[in-house]
Amino acid sequence: MLPRIIMHNAVSLDGRITGFTPDLGLYYGLASRWNADAMLSGSNTILAASKGMPDEPEEPYESVPDDPRPLLVVPDSRGRVSNWHMWQKAGYWRDVIVLCSKATEKSYLEYLERRGIDAIIAGDEHVDIRAALEELNVRYGVRTVRLDTGGTLNGVLLRAGLIDEVSVLVHPEMVGSTAYGSLYETPAGTIRLRLDHCEQLPGDVVWLRYTVVR
Ligand SMILES: NC(=O)c1ccc[n+]([C@@H]2O[C@H](COP(=O)([O-])OP(=O)(O)OC[C@H]3O[C@@H](n4cnc5c(N)ncnc54)[C@H](OP(=O)(O)O)[C@@H]3O)[C@@H](O)[C@H]2O)c1
Repeated sequence: MLPRIIMHNAVSLDGRITGFTPDLGLYYGLASRWNADAMLSGSNTILAASKGMPDEPEEPYESVPDDPRPLLVVPDSRGRVSNWHMWQKAGYWRDVIVLCSKATEKSYLEYLERRGIDAIIAGDEHVDIRAALEELNVRYGVRTVRLDTGGTLNGVLLRAGLIDEVSVLVHPEMVGSTAYGSLYETPAGTIRLRLDHCEQLPGDVVWLRYTVVR
C-alpha cells in the first residue's frame, strides 16, 4: 500500500523556498497536525541543514521500542550524507531510513550497515520512490508521510502522482532571483490542484491547502 503523502512548504509570494525568512514556529506547529509516521526529505535539504553540525559521535544510537516519533526518510543514492547519527540523535525522529539504489556505492552501504542504519534499495540509477514508499509501508507500517524538502524531490513525487495534498505557508516577501530554489523544480508538467483551505495566520502568512487532482 502506498502511504498518503502531504507536501508541506514555506514559500515566498513568488514561490521560492529559500532566500527569505520563514516563520519556523508556524511551519513546524502546523506540520505536526498530520501525525505523520515518516518525514521524507531530500539529501540536499539534509546537507543544507547539516552545515555547522559537529562531526558524528562514536557511540551508536539506541532506538527505543514503541517510540511514537516519526521516521526520518532520505533518498541518498549517491551516498553524500555521512552524519546520520547526528540526525538520529536530533530528538525529532525515532530513527533514520536511507533510500538507496543499485547505483549506490558498496562502501556507502557498508558504512550504513556498520552504523546500524536501515537502508531500502529501490531503483537502478535514482531511487525508485514509489517502490521505496511501498516498502516503507510493508516494513515499518508507514501510512502517512510528510514531505519536507526542496523543489527537486517535490518535483519527482508530484510528477509521479504520489502526492495527495499540497500545503503551503505563503510569506509576505518577494525573493526574485532564480538563484533561489522554487517549490516545484521540474521539466514542464502542470499539476492541477483543488483549493480546500485558505487562512490568514499571524505575520500576514497565508496558509493554503490543496488536494492534488488526479
Ligand atoms: N521552504 C521550505 O519549506 C523548505 C523545506 C525543505 C527544504 N528547503 C530547502 O530546499 C533546498 C534543497 O532543495 P533541492 O531541490 O535542492 O533538493 P532536495 O529536494 O532536498 O533533494 C533532492 C532529492 O531528490 C532526489 N532525486 C533527484 N532526482 C531524482 C529522481 N529522478 N528520482 C528519485 N529521486 C531523485 C535526490 O536523491 P539522490 O540523493 O539519491 O540523488 C535528493 O534526495 C535547501 O536549501 C533547503 O533548505 C526548503
